[in-house]
Amino acid sequence: MTSERLAGWVDEMGAIGGRPSGGVTRVAWSPELAAANEWLLTRARALGLKAAVDAAGNVVCQWTGSAPKESAVVIGSHLDTVPDGGRYDGALGVLSGLEALHRLKEHGFAPRRPLWLVAFNDEEGTRYDASMFGSRAFTGADLSHLLDRVDSAGVPLREAMRRAGSDPADLPGCARIGQVGCYLELHIEQGARLEQAAQAVAVVSKIVGMRGYVVTLRGKPNHAGTTPTDLRRDALAGAARVVLALRDAARATNGLTTNVGRIEIRPGGANVIPGFARFTVDARAPDAEGIERADELVHQAVVKVSADEGLEHDIVETFTHPATQLDLGLREMLARHVAAAGAETLELVSGAGHDAMVLAAHVPAAMLFVPSRAGVSHAPDEYTSPTFYEPALTVLVETIMELAG
Ligand code: HGY
Ligand code: MN
Ligand code: MN
Repeated sequence: MTSERLAGWVDEMGAIGGRPSGGVTRVAWSPELAAANEWLLTRARALGLKAAVDAAGNVVCQWTGSAPKESAVVIGSHLDTVPDGGRYDGALGVLSGLEALHRLKEHGFAPRRPLWLVAFNDEEGTRYDASMFGSRAFTGADLSHLLDRVDSAGVPLREAMRRAGSDPADLPGCARIGQVGCYLELHIEQGARLEQAAQAVAVVSKIVGMRGYVVTLRGKPNHAGTTPTDLRRDALAGAARVVLALRDAARATNGLTTNVGRIEIRPGGANVIPGFARFTVDARAPDAEGIERADELVHQAVVKVSADEGLEHDIVETFTHPATQLDLGLREMLARHVAAAGAETLELVSGAGHDAMVLAAHVPAAMLFVPSRAGVSHAPDEYTSPTFYEPALTVLVETIMELAG
């Protein structure tokens, strides 16, 4: 059974923030994400759920059970995207959760425990390098240190929140983790292992650790034509050396990935030696020691290059999410329903970060993966065929019934 309804929703959601490339841009606190949240609110309410967007930008949709005081079963993911990203990363999980709730209602299911569908805000951290912002607020983390960060247009996070109708003072009130019993997330794999194994679903065993930085290099702006080589203090040349040093370290270190996704150069004149470079670093590793090793490599590369090129440097850590083992009991429950659905029970490690890693620090959390065509993600040609929506959806429905029934 393929879900025509879900396929239609994926198309509708993909049009919100749709780009000429066929990709999608819905960054935190943007009108595009607000429109996506509205889309979800409308459909959740039409299904009879209590639904609202909280001050952290999380869309929380609640189906009260017959035992409303019991801890909630939460299913979720995110509707925000990377710039010009794919139509499935996050969105397919939220929409699959909505489809699962529709099926449960259509089956006449009556949950005992509260059943929530949550779209967490700013999972990607695109605008403020504050990834998992919504799920961190949901779990009661203090996010006040992020509020004065500015985006590429110089807009502070607190101002972006205010413009979107959120008061940062209300963030502590968004902590709901005390009402939650467990968390399930369906997500695209964002890798090619399911496709290579010709499987339609996998259970996620763990999620890699990830740490982000913003590195600033300061040299000296000067004339591109007249400045002798030995007097040049070229911040862009320094940044380029750091980028390649980190790439080579990742190539040489099993399990380590590094990425520089955004760079700003000043003053930006074609005939001016760049005196200023600021860039992001995204480092990942399968365990704590791998992350500490990555941290050393980032600092060593920046310090060495700065000394060689006569640059001042500054390294700010912007986020850190530890490698996370997902809950064994929930994994076994999912695997049982995968087998019952007639699929192979495959377990995969996630190289992508997810809100589940934030929830998992507080409650049992688990994830299901569906295939990504050619493993592509965070790009317009990210794709998951509707033929792969099952058996993951069936597994999600059966597991929810077992947990909330
Ligand atoms: O970056 C990640 O791994 C996730 O897509 N936020
Ligand atoms: Mn993503
Ligand atoms: Mn995602």
